[in-house]
Amino acid sequence: MHFFISVLLIFLQSSDSRAGEIIGGREAKPHSRPYMAYLTYFDKNGKNMRCGGFLVEKKFLLTAAHCWGSSMNIILGAHNIKKPEKTQQRIPVLRTIPHKEYNKKTFNNDIMLLQLKKMARLNHAVGLLALPQKAVKVKPRTRCIVAGWGKTLKTQASDTLQEVELKVRSEYECMEKYPQHYNHSTQMCVGDPNVQKASFQGDSGGPLVCDGVAQGIVSYGFKNGSSPRVFTRISSFLPWIKQTMKTLEDKR
Ligand SMILES: *[C@@H]1O[C@H](CO)[C@@H](O)[C@H](O)[C@H]1NC(C)=O
Ligand SMILES: *[C@@H]1O[C@H](CO)[C@@H](O)[C@H](O)[C@H]1NC(C)=O
Repeated sequence: MHFFISVLLIFLQSSDSRAGEIIGGREAKPHSRPYMAYLTYFDKNGKNMRCGGFLVEKKFLLTAAHCWGSSMNIILGAHNIKKPEKTQQRIPVLRTIPHKEYNKKTFNNDIMLLQLKKMARLNHAVGLLALPQKAVKVKPRTRCIVAGWGKTLKTQASDTLQEVELKVRSEYECMEKYPQHYNHSTQMCVGDPNVQKASFQGDSGGPLVCDGVAQGIVSYGFKNGSSPRVFTRISSFLPWIKQTMKTLEDKR
């Protein structure tokens, strides 16, 4: 049964060979989401993959743990990832820190910090996204925005950043839809099943922004792209994020 469910679910990173966008979204105004990072890496089969991420400190990005791979590459300040835009900053990754309790089978604790080799230069195209102040759960029906360079169901090519508005759903909906995987203490349930809007393949690791604050990280969902989908709940990981950044900064 567990295997059966797993083949229906997918993580939302994607192979770099196919460009695309979010489902039912629109192109973002260039550089209106300056915290967005475009990530590429090689998975264990040597395939070139893409994910999203977001800048939370000048030297730190957050993304999903399942976006971990070799030769991690970061572009900040991008709008069209296939163009050599002047705003783009490519900074090498110094350390990758996937959550120690990240579980590949249950998808629990799907969060990773990336430490950059040098500080990002903050300007109109590159900026920080605020983390939640406290461990408070976002209420159902809250409107949030997710952005990414992932693909659509139709795989229409788009190399520009796309965004879509999604509503937070009740915990019960995801408990029912993803009974083997959904963990309400570490995950959020997002997206109206009756609306053709969603994050999809290639959007993994991108932030769910509610009221200007990063509340979720794109994690997993059904292969057919249907909503609701599951996001990592950032407010559950605030002590981990702060402690890990502090430890790494002290290490230099
Ligand atoms: C939910 O996640 C927490 C934190 O990792 C873990 O302690 C707990 O056992 C998980 N619950 C279930 C039902 O897996
Ligand atoms: C998508 O797949 C899931 C799991 O198989 C199923 O429950 C759901 O009804 C499907 N949705 C659509 C719109 O096909």
